[in-house]
Parts: sequence; C-alpha cells; structure tokens
Amino acid sequence: MVRFHDFVAPLAGPKNMLISEGAVWKQQRAAFNPGFSIQHVMEQVPNFLNIFEEYIKALEGHAVRNEVFRLEEDLTKLTVDVIGKMVLDHDFNSFKGENKFVSALRNILSWMEDSQSLNPFHRKHPIRPWAFKYYKRQMDKYIGDIIDERFAARETTGSSTKRKRTGVDLALQAYLKESGQDIESENAKLDPAFKKDIIDNLLILVFAGHDTTSSTICYIYHELSKHPDALAKARHEMDEVFGSGINALEQIREDSYIINKCTYAIAVIKETLRLWPPGSTVRTGRPDYFIKDPDTGEMLPTEGCQVWPILHVMHRSPRIWGPDANAFNPERFLPPHSETIPPNAYRPFEKGPRNCIGQELALVELRLVLALTIREYDIRAAFDELDKLDGDGSIWASFGASAYGGGEAFGGDAGED
Ligand code: HEM
Repeated sequence: MVRFHDFVAPLAGPKNMLISEGAVWKQQRAAFNPGFSIQHVMEQVPNFLNIFEEYIKALEGHAVRNEVFRLEEDLTKLTVDVIGKMVLDHDFNSFKGENKFVSALRNILSWMEDSQSLNPFHRKHPIRPWAFKYYKRQMDKYIGDIIDERFAARETTGSSTKRKRTGVDLALQAYLKESGQDIESENAKLDPAFKKDIIDNLLILVFAGHDTTSSTICYIYHELSKHPDALAKARHEMDEVFGSGINALEQIREDSYIINKCTYAIAVIKETLRLWPPGSTVRTGRPDYFIKDPDTGEMLPTEGCQVWPILHVMHRSPRIWGPDANAFNPERFLPPHSETIPPNAYRPFEKGPRNCIGQELALVELRLVLALTIREYDIRAAFDELDKLDGDGSIWASFGASAYGGGEAFGGDAGED
C-alpha cells in the first residue's frame, strides 16, 4: 500500500506541513498561519484582482470564439497565480505565457502515480523517481531565488522603505525568531535548513491549494448550470448587491468585504462543497481510539488501521441531511434550515488544529469567481464534445476521466440529476 507520506514527499519533501508531525508541524503551522488569517487574505484581495481580470479575459476569448475549452486549464492558472501572489507576492503570470515554475509543477504532477491504474508499468515506472527529482529541483531553485530576494529586501532597522508583508515574509520572520534572530537585524542569516523547510512548505501550499479550489469552481459552475433556479437567485442577489448590469470588479477593489453580502452565493459554495468535497484526511489508528457503530453501538478498534473519514458519505447521509441528501439545495445553508445542521456534520476543510490552513483564501476565491463571472457567462459541461480537444497537448488530454468524459458519479455525468 502506498502511504500518504510516500505520495506527497517526492513533491514537497519528507517534512512539509501536510505530513509532518508533533513539534515540527506545530512550528511550521505557526509560521504560516498569520499569512492565511481572514484579515490578511481580505487585505490581499486588491493585489490579486488583476489575476481574476486575466481569467475573465480568457473566458471572454472562449465566448467570442464560441469554442469548447478546458475550464480546468484556465482555473489552474487562476488558482496557482493567486497562491503565488498571496504567499510570495510574486507574479507567475500563467495567463501571459509559460512560466518555469508552473511548467515544472505541471510536469511533476503529470508523473504522479495513478493509483487506479491497473498497468503495472505505469504503477512502477522506472523513470518516475528521476522525473520527480528533476522537476522538484527546478521548483526548489525557482522558489529558493524568490526567498533569497525577499530576505535581501527585508526591512532592516532604520531602513526607509515600508512594504507590505506577505506570507513568506511572515514565515521568514517566524523562522528567524525561532533561531533567536531578529528579521530587522542586518546580521540576520538564513540557515539553509530553514530555507529548505520554507521551500517545501511553500510547495505544499501550491499543491494542496490549487486543484482543490479549481475543481470546486468547476463543480459550482456545473451545479448552477444544472439548476437554473439557483443560478437565477444567485444572479438576482448580485444585481441587488452590485447593481444590475454593473460588473462587480471596481466595487470589490474599493471594498473587498462587499462579497460577504452575497449570502445566497455563499450558500451555493457551501452546498457544492458538501456534495463534492475535493479534500479529505487520513489518520493513523491508535490503541486507545475506537469508533462507535451508530447502528449497533459496537466499539470498533482503530489500532493498525488507517482511519479515513469519507466526506462523500458523511455529507450525503440521509440520517444527517434528510431524504433529499443527494440533491443540490443551497437553501439548507440558509436560516432557518442551517440552524439544524449538527455541529460536526459538515467538514469540507476538516476540523481541529490540522484543518485546512488555506480555507479562508479558498472561500474568498470562490466568492470572487461567483461575483465576477456568473452574471456575465453561462458555463455548461460539454462532455459530448470533448473529442474536439483531443491532442490539444494539455495534461488533461491524457489524464483519467478528463480525457474521455466526466466520469460517472452518483448516477450521472460528473454529478447526479
Ligand atoms: C476548496 C478548497 C480547499 C479544500 C476543500 C481543502 C480541504 C482540505 C482538507 C480537508 C484538509 C485537511 C487534511 C487533513 O486533515 O489531513 C486540508 C489541509 C490543508 N490544506 Fe486545504 N483545502 C482547500 C484549499 C486550500 C488552499 C487554498 C490552500 C493553500 C493555499 C490549502 C492548503 C492546505 C494545507 C497546507 C493543508 C495541511 C494543513 C496541516 O496539516 O496543517 N488548502 N485542506
């Protein structure tokens, strides 16, 4: 069995915050938490709105050309660039052309093992370890150079420039403090081991944060296209918040908190994450930890097992969500219905200290996408026209379900009803 650790380590090192434990994890999480607080994310919105403008331009191009296109391609550019801007204050500029880091990222991901493949040559591909090393080295170098730049450009005591601190600055500050140094001191030194740790954690932020968010956006568009009533309600609410026929961009630039007024849109996001949670968690069982069977009351041991709470099952349980548990119904996240949801039943970002560090960023990105695009565009799945994109050279063309169709889930193309 491939352990989760073995799966993640070649991408982002053996000690990144997704798989590290104990004191190491605590230190890493404390270093990166401040950069992901809701306040920090909201402050950053005007800095990354230009990436949303690029995304909208791409959509506009597809609409004008009246073409079928791979939404996940544009959304990967959007979500990777937002993380780059948020955490590194760096422009990957994915919409403008090939970027070395993003190419290496795509390449390393294309080498990931497909755990469902029955082809033994694919599962144990002899070149894979070398490909991982090659692309990881390229990514390390790219991010390492940015860290060196940020470190060299840090404000030292008495420096006249004042600039905003992004995630990597806050992390550098925390790491230096840990080693008894002051970031403002001219003599501060960046230990190579610290630098490696920061690189690996920045990599895991990109890995964990881009595909989860972009696939959720795909599902939101998909659910809205299948549920015109919900789409009409979300559009109507946005007309009320931003004004009919007025694009929301400038108002958001002025006041990013305005997106919180779109309460129905927020319910759409929550409902999509209930039905299609892209993340999950695994824990190692312990001799003192048992799981109670709700039907029989039997206490099941977990020692020697991997415990995997499957969100697709929990989030679709009629016992919790009622007889329409499989239906898309954003109203269940609005009062009075929302008041009856049991406290731990809904967990797309998981719970507790190891919950998702990027959840505030993800929820802001999802709100922005809705506010900026759902009134302007009708987006629908075109699985039956996928052959038009055959051989387009994208990684999606050769990757599992995206190569041949939506795949079947809960009795339909990428979704029920
Ligand atoms: C819709 C979007 C997202 C979903 C549904 C999601 C979901 C999750 C879940 C369920 C976990 C818990 C894993 C566990 O307990 O082992 C997690 C952890 C994590 N997520 Fe997210 N995530 C999303 C977006 C993001 C973003 C935008 C970032 C960063 C930019 C991010 C970075 C991480 C990291 C680093 C962890 C590990 C945290 C730790 O172990 O301390 N995620 N995510």
